[in-house]
Amino acid sequence: MAHADEVEVLHWWTSGGEAAALDVLKKDLESKGVTWKDMPVAGGGGEAAMTALRARVTAGNPPTAVQALGFDITDWAKQGTLGDLNEVATAEGWDNVIPAALQNFSKYDGKWIAAPVNVHSTNWVWINKAALDAAGGKAPETWDEMVVVLDKMKANGITPLAHGGQAWQEATMFDAVVLSMGPDFYKASMIDLDPAALSGDKMVEVFNRMAKLRSYVDDNFSGRDWNLASAMVIEGKGGMQMMGDWAKGEFLKAGKKPGVDFVCIRFPGTQGAVTFNSDQFMMFKVGEDKQKAQLLMASAIENPSFQSAFNVVKGSVPARTDVPNDAFDDCGKKGMADLAEANTKGTLMGSMAHGHAAPAAVKNAVYDVVTRHFNGEMDSAAAAAALAEAVAAAKG
Ligand code: BGC
Repeated sequence: MAHADEVEVLHWWTSGGEAAALDVLKKDLESKGVTWKDMPVAGGGGEAAMTALRARVTAGNPPTAVQALGFDITDWAKQGTLGDLNEVATAEGWDNVIPAALQNFSKYDGKWIAAPVNVHSTNWVWINKAALDAAGGKAPETWDEMVVVLDKMKANGITPLAHGGQAWQEATMFDAVVLSMGPDFYKASMIDLDPAALSGDKMVEVFNRMAKLRSYVDDNFSGRDWNLASAMVIEGKGGMQMMGDWAKGEFLKAGKKPGVDFVCIRFPGTQGAVTFNSDQFMMFKVGEDKQKAQLLMASAIENPSFQSAFNVVKGSVPARTDVPNDAFDDCGKKGMADLAEANTKGTLMGSMAHGHAAPAAVKNAVYDVVTRHFNGEMDSAAAAAALAEAVAAAKG
């Protein structure tokens, strides 16, 4: 017999830090009498999870709740496969406490279809504190200062840039490098998909910077998982990692403290702007027997104390604007302040790498060009031209 209150949850939170955060959710639901049926699909960025999901939906048997990002949620909503959370969302006033930038993806046709858990952002750099001290001790604020630090780390005999050679990880770095050419340029190229911005001189410079970063990774980078790159920085074998704030979850899981063992900075040149992605649990249309548990889960996720407890562990910041920052460490407090500032200034923009700037077809076209260039298959001028072409084709 199936449990009366059971949720089957598809997600890609399988690293140490991610699993610790997931456990906060699992335990919270269990305390409310909801049984958790786990469906983990490993693979950072969630591509493999989305493939597994398609198979389940095609078989006519979708999970209750699915971790998903941005435009992927909208795509499923368009197909009419998602449920309706309005009963809970209205009673709990979600409209008033969840930022509009998130609601754009959590709602479709006036209906809440997903419950946002958090806000991550991709323009961060995670630096080993001892390695930084050995390289002069000053966190870089500009691209040129960062190059100086990377060179010193290289001279000190460590891998300056800990990186995992997977398309989504290169794309995550690319988000930050594009943003370092200015928020207007990020918007024109990644959000508006303007062909002139995609192919122009600034984009050539972005690719030059990517090539420069490529020169700081070790020989074994190819295929490495992101959390293993984090581990290199944690252990001091790597100097820094350019990665979203889920990386902080790995540092915390390893018992490391911000400001003491590691330093978090915005990617030099992107201060004051944020490229965000929000993990949301999209809720599928399920039989009546499962609806109660689904609504219970949605409500539990939006509970302010849960939002605090979960995001403290995950490395992200709350999806609600009314959660106090007391429980967060300095990186988390900075993340919350940066988000609010960017939101006010109009410099809060969706991450291309994590599905919040454009639909999957465009995202995949960007992945392809960025990763081919990173692996030396073309020079920077050719890459900018190829990017504009690939995006135009994917836009259809
Ligand atoms: C998700 C994070 C996750 C990361 C690595 C991102 O797309 O938003 O929650 O930790 O991928 O798996």
